[in-house]
Amino acid sequence: MAENVVIDITDHKAVVDFCRLMAIDFVVVGPDAQVVAGLGDDVRAAGIACFCPSKAAGQLEGSKGFTKALCDEMGIPTAGYGRFNNEAAALAYLYTQGAPIVIKADGLAAGKGVTVAMSVEEAEEAIVDCFAGAFGASGAEVVVEEFMEGEEVSLFVLCDGTSILPLTTAQDHKRAFDGDTGPNTGGMGAYSPAPVMTREIYEDVLERVIWPTVRGLAARGTPYQGVLYAGLMLTADGPKLVEYNARFGDPETQVMMLRIESDLLPLLHATATGSLAGHDVAWKDQYALTVIMATEGYPGSYDKGSEIRGAEGLDSDILQVFHAGTRREGARLLAAGGRVLNVTALGGSVKEAQSRAYAGVDQIVWPEGFCRRDIGWREIARTAS
Ligand code: AMP
Ligand code: GLY
Repeated sequence: MAENVVIDITDHKAVVDFCRLMAIDFVVVGPDAQVVAGLGDDVRAAGIACFCPSKAAGQLEGSKGFTKALCDEMGIPTAGYGRFNNEAAALAYLYTQGAPIVIKADGLAAGKGVTVAMSVEEAEEAIVDCFAGAFGASGAEVVVEEFMEGEEVSLFVLCDGTSILPLTTAQDHKRAFDGDTGPNTGGMGAYSPAPVMTREIYEDVLERVIWPTVRGLAARGTPYQGVLYAGLMLTADGPKLVEYNARFGDPETQVMMLRIESDLLPLLHATATGSLAGHDVAWKDQYALTVIMATEGYPGSYDKGSEIRGAEGLDSDILQVFHAGTRREGARLLAAGGRVLNVTALGGSVKEAQSRAYAGVDQIVWPEGFCRRDIGWREIARTAS
């Protein structure tokens, strides 16, 4: 669909120079690190429209403490917490709270900065590691947070600074192995929509989480323009914010892209240019589900370069295989990353989408790869009971 160009995206001047050279008039920024580094501001300063929150508003993802403070200011429901810049104070707070408890490095940590500690010892270790530099500067501040119990769900909302256009819901599967066991990953599979977020919960989240965020940032003079990805916990006391990401999710976007009927580009452009009011978005009345095929060893260390067979020619009206980390060597397709393929299918139910996705997975021959076999299990269990 597009041409890949080799540019160092941390070199903002190189990105801007390339846009000028090619007369590119709209830029969409994907990764969190570039949002937080202010690539959007630098592209806009060159007079080019850009789908990317400002560096100031991107702090929603770049600093957990920033988001917690905004929640306090605006009364947004979230876990109780303390925010610390030294080990002794964080430990003292931990001892007053006990376990289970959640320890978070303040800044970006590639999905690895959060420890859900079941014991005080585990929490102590996480705090000590953070201040010892396990996450570099991202761990110089630590958020110690109340443990929330419930089911997680994500809501995606476009926001142009003042107007919003809610997109849809999805449920991610963060743990590496079946039954939500094993280490946290960037996401091993997802489906959309997520019926666990009922109409009532959705309206409640818009009113008590999304709107206060949008209004709060606008009132501070740092309006949010981009996609707000709200990670929510559906607790016994109602929905609470777990975290914000200031970008689209991976693999949540893959399932959204199979379902979207509207043209995405005008929506992104309207978001970036403050003209979202009046826009609408249409979705297929179907579920989409994606299964991640990852290299054995992920999210730990893994080898690159193993051969994948049977992954091409599978795409149809109901199935699409997204390549997340592959490369070609002659006629061969090789694994070139941790999360490598996203086998994504549509269906009339989560279960149907699931069986179609796994039918696709089963055609792919890759001995060095693995996937979860239970993506969608919560919803399937719910509809079966
Ligand atoms: P985050 O990077 O903040 O989304 O955290 C990563 C994961 O840790 C979340 O998706 C949750 O599964 C878990 N988590 C984060 N905060 C809490 C909390 N306060 N209570 C329980 N689980 C949490
Ligand atoms: N799938 C989780 C994320 O994109 O952050």
